[in-house]
Amino acid sequence: MKDINNYISTNKDRFINELIDLLKIPSISADKAYAKDVLKAAKAVKKSLDDAGCENTEICETKGYPVVYGDKIIDPNLPTVLVYGHYDVQPPDPIDLWDSPPFEPVIKKTELHPDGAIFARGACDDKGQFFMHVKAVEFMIKNDTLPCNVKFMIEGEEEVGSDSLEDFLKENSEKFKNDIILISDTGMISNDTPSITTGLRGLSYVEVEVTGANRDLHSGIYGGAAPNPINVLAKMIAQLHDEDNHITIPGFYDKVEVISDDERAEMAKAPFDLEAYKKSLDIGDVHGEKGYSTPERFGIRPTLDVNGIWGGYMGEGAKTVIASKAYAKISMRLVPDQDWHEITDLFTKHFESIAPKSVKVKVTPHHGGQAYVTPIDSIGYQAASKAMETTFGKTPVPQRTGGSIPIVALFESVFDSKTILLGFGLDSDAIHSPNEHFGVWNFLKGIETIPYFYKYFNEIY
Ligand code: BES
Ligand code: MN
Ligand code: MN
Repeated sequence: MKDINNYISTNKDRFINELIDLLKIPSISADKAYAKDVLKAAKAVKKSLDDAGCENTEICETKGYPVVYGDKIIDPNLPTVLVYGHYDVQPPDPIDLWDSPPFEPVIKKTELHPDGAIFARGACDDKGQFFMHVKAVEFMIKNDTLPCNVKFMIEGEEEVGSDSLEDFLKENSEKFKNDIILISDTGMISNDTPSITTGLRGLSYVEVEVTGANRDLHSGIYGGAAPNPINVLAKMIAQLHDEDNHITIPGFYDKVEVISDDERAEMAKAPFDLEAYKKSLDIGDVHGEKGYSTPERFGIRPTLDVNGIWGGYMGEGAKTVIASKAYAKISMRLVPDQDWHEITDLFTKHFESIAPKSVKVKVTPHHGGQAYVTPIDSIGYQAASKAMETTFGKTPVPQRTGGSIPIVALFESVFDSKTILLGFGLDSDAIHSPNEHFGVWNFLKGIETIPYFYKYFNEIY
């Protein structure tokens, strides 16, 4: 297995150049204008699987963007690893805040990435991360060291909620049948504190529309007498949290899994530097639910955040107007055992109930997903832990993260197999933000670590 290091040193320039080519494709799933590019990325992924030595590669149609499949079955009696990832990316906006164009990748050094980082939309989320698996599998196939079977499922709608995947999975459960699911689409604590993600939050995402008068009004003639939907919306949003930053939606916390003090104490052992956190965000203080630490606030507690708010005059200069409508997009991050459909209903009822009679309110649910927690005594976790220990020289820390990958909970119900979240990104890699990047060291470390996962998983299985 030492050969992996030789393979990486011989091929690393090629690995990086291949990733750069993939990053040049603007596969933005949220924007229909990029539909061709999303399909182009799917083709490029299929080709990369072919080049790696995979078999039965295929672009599988779904109701939405396709899923790319490829496998290498060395013996049907051996266990099968399913690698999941996504080739779609978030929109790059706001584009002016990028130091270099989002789809023209460049390598630059940063404080945390002295060996350089690849700057491009999707570098870390998730093209750079799933591509580590393609290259690790390439190594194992070319060197005849693949110890078990592998299948790839690389989808194109993760960033818009994986809507088509549920039906697709159910219709194709035999094809994707596996014993463990391996995903690199999360992060780790730092390059010298490896960690494995043991929990993802669920999500309920809604859009609200508040309508006042039947037309925009002169803010002098009508101001103070007619309802102002923007004022009303701001007040309604403010009411969704109390002074302790608890969410006020009745029933919201009813099903939240209770975590014992012992377990909280265990979680608190994961290193976290509050001062560095504040400094990295340039904020005077953190903010959140009373009674919980910052890692608890993003790891084990549900939240409600406005993601966008608009209405009224937003052009240059001033216009005296009371808009007819105001809007907001709101995300709720959920934890076990909240159900996202139920939470969406609770939100809708509550939001409608707090609206004054002067306005009409419409709530439109977007997408969602359930939370996921994986045990640390499973074979998969143990294999991942040993793999990281081998290549980092340190035992990784289990850590719950705040992000969501909606399909993961569904995997468990369809396949009855565990998911291992073996991510190599850093929180500071700016995923979904301008100047997203992925450390070259992290990329290569992932390629180095993954073959050990296969080795140990097959040994322990
Ligand atoms: N890879 C992220 C999720 C993630 C990132 C989890 C870092 C943990 C740490 C994924 O691509 C993502 O962005 N998911 C979305 C959900 C989706 C429904 C849009 C999210 O979490 O906002
Ligand atoms: Mn992702
Ligand atoms: Mn993402």
